[in-house]
Amino acid sequence: MNAKSKPSPEVKNLQEFWMPFTANRQFKQTPRMLTMAKGMYYRSDDGREVLDGTSGLWCCNAGHGRESITAAVKQQLERMDFAPTFQMGHPIAFRLAERLCEITPPGLNHVFFTNSGSESVDTALKIALAYHRARGDSARTMLIGREKGYHGTNFGGMSVGGIAGNREAFGSLLPAVDHLRHTLDMERNAFSRGLPEHGVELADDLERLCLLHDPATIAAVIVEPIACSGGVVFPAKGYLTRLKEICDRHGILLIFDEVITGFGRVGKAFAAERLGVTPDIITSAKGLTNGTVPMGAVFVKDSIHAAFMQGSGQGIELFHGYTYSGHPVAAAAALASLDIYQQENLFERTIEIESYWEDAVHSLKGLPNIIDIRNYGLIAGIEFSSREGKPGARVYDIFTRCFHEEGLLIRPSVDIIALSPPLIIEKAQIDQIFETLGRVIKATA
Ligand SMILES: Cc1ncc(COP(=O)(O)O)c(C=O)c1O
Repeated sequence: MNAKSKPSPEVKNLQEFWMPFTANRQFKQTPRMLTMAKGMYYRSDDGREVLDGTSGLWCCNAGHGRESITAAVKQQLERMDFAPTFQMGHPIAFRLAERLCEITPPGLNHVFFTNSGSESVDTALKIALAYHRARGDSARTMLIGREKGYHGTNFGGMSVGGIAGNREAFGSLLPAVDHLRHTLDMERNAFSRGLPEHGVELADDLERLCLLHDPATIAAVIVEPIACSGGVVFPAKGYLTRLKEICDRHGILLIFDEVITGFGRVGKAFAAERLGVTPDIITSAKGLTNGTVPMGAVFVKDSIHAAFMQGSGQGIELFHGYTYSGHPVAAAAALASLDIYQQENLFERTIEIESYWEDAVHSLKGLPNIIDIRNYGLIAGIEFSSREGKPGARVYDIFTRCFHEEGLLIRPSVDIIALSPPLIIEKAQIDQIFETLGRVIKATA
């Protein structure tokens, strides 16, 4: 461990915490510790300011340390720390559901609460399967994901996910699953600004899977409107509209996984609205509580909800839920986050600032080894050619240098830098991100 990498004063040893999605041995040689956060900045354990280019992990959309969220959480903890939502209720969870359904796309007026994106995805997949069975269509058991898709780490999400590295270590995944082709086409679309022009026909890949499996066996298709963790991959203009049309033609439910794109990341409450396509189910988490308290939410269309509420029975309609579904403290954090988003017009602000963001990220074009730059809303991906025999090494070096030497947090994803700053970012901070990146890329890449 070098001098810079001593554990923080309050930590004696780093071995006990088995860190998620982390090269543990490498990290523990040279740790990167964050100890405080306010606004656009973290502070590292050696006292440096670190500009947050990633909203934590795509989640702190309103920036860090928002006092009204802290106050709401404190107040709720003092009033009632926990109460079950199995055969019991508490008003704040219902109030949150009501508020959320005011900003969902038309017709998605029911919400099932979870504690994370992964749980939201598995909940959505289970609802899709159970929906078809509730209507007597029990042949629909297949789930379709997409290559490069990321839908969390639980069994359902991992199975429909399309990132090889997240699947191969585990061997046994859900069997009745297939994948659409991904939508990355650098030959035709490299350095596109906004949604790319080419690739609407990739949606027809669903017809291929329908022919192969028989559409009457397919329960649902799940895609991220924008595939973020799999490398910041955007759909071509018109792709999602066509995908929805094909789903509708075959009675297949379309699920948008908006765990990242929800809550303003692309300028509307949900990407579905910005992109003009209303799916049957939307999954969310992350920005729901501004990253403060774990919570997820799954929004379903009225007709799906209604299928479970039919008949004269008074029994439980869906045998699914989590101890902490609709947790009162998370609900308080979510309500306070929604208040900030609305009072500060943060979703609209994203649209106002996105062209400045776009110009700034594309100013890196021409720097060494950059083979593509992609952007939409307050998201950007910068793709590099791999170092020979060492995929990911180039971007990892840029990432560590940005953190240790420049006080900038970016997200490495193999050979891609992913950026997704808090929606409160100012133009000067956008300049800071790209001036820093330009300098580090020249020196490193
Ligand atoms: C689209 C998408 N779905 C699901 C997840 C999983 O969320 P969580 O890590 O909260 O389980 C993520 C996390 O990045 C995501 O980006």
